[in-house]
Amino acid sequence: MRLDIFTLFPEAFDWFQQQRPVRNAIAAGSELRLFSYRDSTPLGAGQVDDAPYGGGAGMVLRVDVVDAALQAAYPDAARPRVVLLAPGGKLLDDELATELALEPGLALLCGRYEGFDQRVHEHLADDEVSIGRYVLAGGELAAMVVADAVFRKLPGALGHADSAVEESFSEALEGAPEYPHYTRPPSYMGWEVPEILLSGDHARVHAWRLEQSRERARRLR
Ligand code: 6GU
Repeated sequence: MRLDIFTLFPEAFDWFQQQRPVRNAIAAGSELRLFSYRDSTPLGAGQVDDAPYGGGAGMVLRVDVVDAALQAAYPDAARPRVVLLAPGGKLLDDELATELALEPGLALLCGRYEGFDQRVHEHLADDEVSIGRYVLAGGELAAMVVADAVFRKLPGALGHADSAVEESFSEALEGAPEYPHYTRPPSYMGWEVPEILLSGDHARVHAWRLEQSRERARRLR
């Protein structure tokens, strides 16, 4: 996977890039690149936005600026799947994260201010993704959420080979939340680890976990 993030604030991703699953995936051959709209803007003085036609509060990211950034990143016509982060987009879930993780390349467009000129939505983006029905000041946090959910599914991201297989909302757990985890001590302040987990009976442990996971799914409904 080559994941490209377009933003006005590339430094906002410094922390994210240092996270273990991201570094692991990169060591295993994936790529994460950051592009600033300001570095490729065709306008003077680093301008990227403008006042909305028709009036109103706030500024709008210009379509020519976003297109110039995509052209600079992808000089020979072939562009990866371009995903625009917007509160009104398709809601991110495990299924969508899995689908995005299967792409050879992905471009995430982060907006600020009042958002993008509508022509970015219509002509430059292939999809719009949202992380929930509330409004954030910018797309950066949403892009990090999408990138985190996608990166942990990439080869080599997690230490243990099947850590991402049997986790919350995965197919292995029938789309249900994950079962509870316990570690030492077996008893603390009278709070006990379920007996079955100490039994060493792997078949019973597996059946118990699946039932716990299903029970949590019932409670979510
Ligand atoms: Cl993707 N962007 C912004 N700006 N706000 C959001 C969002 C995205 N998802 C939820 N709120």
